[in-house]
Amino acid sequence: MSTGTTISTVVMLLSLCLQQSWADAVQPGVLYSDQACIECHAEREPDLVQQWRMSAHGEASGVDCSGCHGERHQQPSQRMTVQAREDATCAGCHQGSAAHSYVTSKHGVINTIEASRQDWSAPLQVGNYRAPGCSYCHNYGGDHSDTMAPERGPAVRQWICAGCHSPRYVREQFENGVRQLAIADLKLAEGDTLLATADHLEEEQRLALKQSQLDHRRNVLYGVGHQSPDYQWWHGQPALDGDLIRIRDAVDKSQRREPLRGD
Ligand code: HEC
Ligand code: HEC
Ligand code: HEC
Ligand code: HEC
Ligand code: HEC
Repeated sequence: MSTGTTISTVVMLLSLCLQQSWADAVQPGVLYSDQACIECHAEREPDLVQQWRMSAHGEASGVDCSGCHGERHQQPSQRMTVQAREDATCAGCHQGSAAHSYVTSKHGVINTIEASRQDWSAPLQVGNYRAPGCSYCHNYGGDHSDTMAPERGPAVRQWICAGCHSPRYVREQFENGVRQLAIADLKLAEGDTLLATADHLEEEQRLALKQSQLDHRRNVLYGVGHQSPDYQWWHGQPALDGDLIRIRDAVDKSQRREPLRGD
């Protein structure tokens, strides 16, 4: 046996012992606090825990490890990872337009139709899923921040889509998204300009009109992010047009009221 082989055998045995002591430390069925998950896993996977800390699910929002994985290591332990991948886990918290825009997209429709045969035990990687669920897009490759965040850039999010679509098609989808949001922002700016001219509008009504615009702008974001035509074209742009009509109407009325009040 050469020295090289002996050394590598010793290293292998040592790492086996180390893994063994880790595995001994976790007990299936024991209820762990989130503090315990974080402390133990920060030693095992510092990068993963750091990604979570910096994410929207980090400490500030209080969505801890157990929010997605459950509170107990299971036998076999794989189970905790499987639970976190399931659409139902994400949609349990993200109800409303986040979930509904996905359900009305082609990806959502495919996953709903195939729900009974859906196998979430495969890692979130290309080739393992026919259509992406929430976690496939947002936690691709086990990333614990958000792989769809615009600041991650096209190299991350467009590359993930391009595992299933042509790169050119994907680029066009994202370019369309940028245009749609720019149009939505023009409508918001026009709303602001109109509202600024209405001196006699009740504050409560002003806030409600503004909030409605913000909600519908968010629908456009969900529409383009989740590839849901309903959210782009029904709950999104036309709803923003409706907001502008309501704002104009409210401003007109408030101005008509003015001379009466001045009497
Ligand atoms: C005392 C240390 C320790 C604590 C506490 C702990 N874990 Fe683990 N965890 C481990 C070890 C070791 C493994 C790898 C063991 C294995 O795969 O059998 C693991 C594996 C995992 C996996 C991957 C499972 C798989 O095999 O795919 C997840 C997910 C996980 N833990 C989440 C949690 C959560 C959530 C908590 C808190 C409720 C937690 N852990 C608490 C040590 C710990
Ligand atoms: C927003 C939901 C969510 C939260 C919160 C979350 N995870 Fe995960 N986690 C996932 C998903 C989804 C996967 C599966 C990734 C994959 O298949 O590539 C996963 C996978 C893992 C794995 C297995 C990694 C591997 O490579 O096999 C571990 C370990 C883990 N998570 C630990 C944690 C710990 C510790 C915390 C808290 C600090 C945490 N997770 C918080 C969703 C979450
Ligand atoms: C226990 C509840 C809970 C679970 C489970 C959960 N989330 Fe979240 N999520 C939140 C909260 C709270 C926030 C921060 C507030 C917000 O922006 O809605 C958030 C934020 C986000 C954001 C960023 C939103 C933003 O405004 O920047 C994304 C994307 C997201 N979650 C996706 C997911 C996905 C994908 C899953 C499943 C793998 C998941 N979430 C599981 C509660 C949850
Ligand atoms: C095809 C990939 C894909 C799937 C599947 C998907 N998302 Fe998204 N999601 C995106 C993209 C892209 C965005 C837009 C991000 C941006 O530009 O800010 C987004 C936006 C979001 C946001 C808002 C983020 C923000 O910055 O305000 C949340 C929350 C969210 N998704 C949760 C979910 C949940 C929950 C599911 C499943 C019910 C899901 N997503 C399914 C790609 C996906
Ligand atoms: C795991 C594979 C997979 C991933 C990843 C994926 N898709 Fe899809 N996508 C599909 C399948 C399958 C369909 C339905 C068949 C079709 O129309 O091509 C589909 C349909 C679509 C459609 C609707 C097409 C139509 O004719 O109505 C759009 C748009 C789309 N995807 C864009 C995206 C974008 C953007 C991403 C990334 C954020 C993405 N997809 C990620 C598999 C995927």
